[in-house]
Amino acid sequence: MEYYLRCIECGKKYEREDIYTCECGGLLEVAINFDSVEIDFRLDSNNLSVWKYRCLLPIKTEPVSLKEGGTPLYHTRLEEELECGIYVKHEGANPSGSFKDRGMTVGVTKAIELGKKAVACASTGNTSASMAMYAAKAGLKAYVLLPAGKVALGKVAQALMHGARVIGIRGNFDEALALVRQISEEEGFYLLNSVNPFRLEGQKTIAYEIVDEIGVPDRVVLPVGNAGNISAIYKGFRELKELGLIDSIPKMTGVQAEGANPIYRAVKCGKEAIDPVMNPETVATAIRIGQPVNARKALRAIYESNGTAVQVSDDEIIQAQKDLAREGIGVEPASAASVAGLRKLMAEGVIERDEVIVCITTGHLLKDPEAVIRACGKPVEVDASLEAIKEVL
Ligand code: F0G
Repeated sequence: MEYYLRCIECGKKYEREDIYTCECGGLLEVAINFDSVEIDFRLDSNNLSVWKYRCLLPIKTEPVSLKEGGTPLYHTRLEEELECGIYVKHEGANPSGSFKDRGMTVGVTKAIELGKKAVACASTGNTSASMAMYAAKAGLKAYVLLPAGKVALGKVAQALMHGARVIGIRGNFDEALALVRQISEEEGFYLLNSVNPFRLEGQKTIAYEIVDEIGVPDRVVLPVGNAGNISAIYKGFRELKELGLIDSIPKMTGVQAEGANPIYRAVKCGKEAIDPVMNPETVATAIRIGQPVNARKALRAIYESNGTAVQVSDDEIIQAQKDLAREGIGVEPASAASVAGLRKLMAEGVIERDEVIVCITTGHLLKDPEAVIRACGKPVEVDASLEAIKEVL
């Protein structure tokens, strides 16, 4: 498969792969020469995984894989409540518990291809957990910058145990990202934030898997933080359309928290660029981001697909988390934003009743145990006797 990197702003092409942005400052994307692609998979809902679609992934060597992708697509009782065909694709079922693994299997493999010895990222948590895991598998050093005190415990635990050098900075995610971009440049680390176009290639397989299993839905709803995932999933659908494998693209619908809502605000005014939110805040710490680096890609995805963006409150997020839990689907707060956003758009009449919708739940419940205790309270504690237990049943 032939491909090159192309700037989404000025169109400049690059054969070299060890860059993240264009000379003009624009974001890069992997452009595939479709004439050179030989599709060797069938969209038959069998053997779902990231590497099923290897013929559309820009990798030449043996992948660093922990068997990512192939996540479950569930029906839920939300369908009755909202009178729509609603599926939930649970990305929390990936090896590290989030969709980031799809990107990291490709990104870390690219690091090996480029001969890098160390990888780095800034993170609200999941990126760091996933990167640490894949770096461990590949035998690479991993460096992580986190906003100190603002990352859910499960994620920090993963990054530490898989051997990353974890550094908390007194600042927010946006500041951590600016710093890690600089340090990676100076130290020669391979940067694995979603500004890396190869990482997003892995994440586009979410779109492939959805089509593989149910065909093209009318809409895909997902939480938006740094805005890489919505851009990647849209690219996946766009590619299948360009290849003639599908003939429509779902409306890409981004959900943000009220306290971290720059994409929502841009879409509301029909703008092509965001105004940063300087002090983002939300219970959904995974998407506590005020200056999404992929904003330009995400806004294009939303506008070109006739999608939209919506904001939800922390209370709405926690309510949706509980509703999903009642269905047997355990997700972290950011993931529940997708369902909270869907509910809001239905109530506002933006979404029509007969649509087929896929909600992406991006991360596992166990990522953020402290949020659970805040929402549900601690377990009751009683004496070790039958009477005492019966009293609290
Ligand atoms: N959901 C979860 C659980 C996440 O961890 C993230 C991003 C998102 C949604 C938003 O995805 O950034 O592609 O728009 N987490 C990043 C991290 C920022 O560092 O783990 P996005």
